Amino acid sequence: MKILLIHGPNLNLLGKRSPEIYGTSSLDEINARMHSIAKEGGAELRTFQSNSEGALIDAIHEAADWADGIIINPGAYAHYSYAIRDALASVQLPAIEVHLSNIYAREEFRRQSVISSVVVGCVSGLGWRSYACGVQAMIGILQDRK
Ligand code: DQA
Repeated sequence: MKILLIHGPNLNLLGKRSPEIYGTSSLDEINARMHSIAKEGGAELRTFQSNSEGALIDAIHEAADWADGIIINPGAYAHYSYAIRDALASVQLPAIEVHLSNIYAREEFRRQSVISSVVVGCVSGLGWRSYACGVQAMIGILQDRK
C-alpha cells in the first residue's frame, strides 16, 4: 500500500501560521506522525508540499504511476482550484481531502470545496488529527480493495 500525502500552499508555515486556527505542530512534526501511523498500518507514505498549483497537479499526475491512494490538504486551493479537482478526477486513485480547521465554521468563502465532489471523503476541523483520520481511513479503504 503506497500513499501520497499532499500539502498545499502555506502549509509549510504550520506551527507559526495562525496557531489558534491550525495548531502548533509544524509540518515536519505532522509528517513524522503520519509516517508512523502509516508504518503501523503496513503502508508506505510519501509526503509532498508545494505552494504552486502546477507542482501540486504534477505530483497528482505522477502518483498515478506509483501510488494506491492520495490524501490531500489543498489549502485555499480547495475553494477554487478546478485544475486540482480535475487532476484528482483524472488519475482515478481514491483520494481523501483533509483540513486542519473546520472550513464549515469559518468565512463564507471557505465553506465550499470544489475538491470534495471528487474524493471518497473529507475530514475537517480536527487539527493534525484530521490527517491521522485520513491516513487510517485510506489504509482501511486500500485493505478493503485487496
Ligand atoms: C486549510 C483551510 C483553508 O481554507 C486554508 O486556506 C488553508 C488551510 C485547513 O487545513 O484548515 O490553507 O486547508
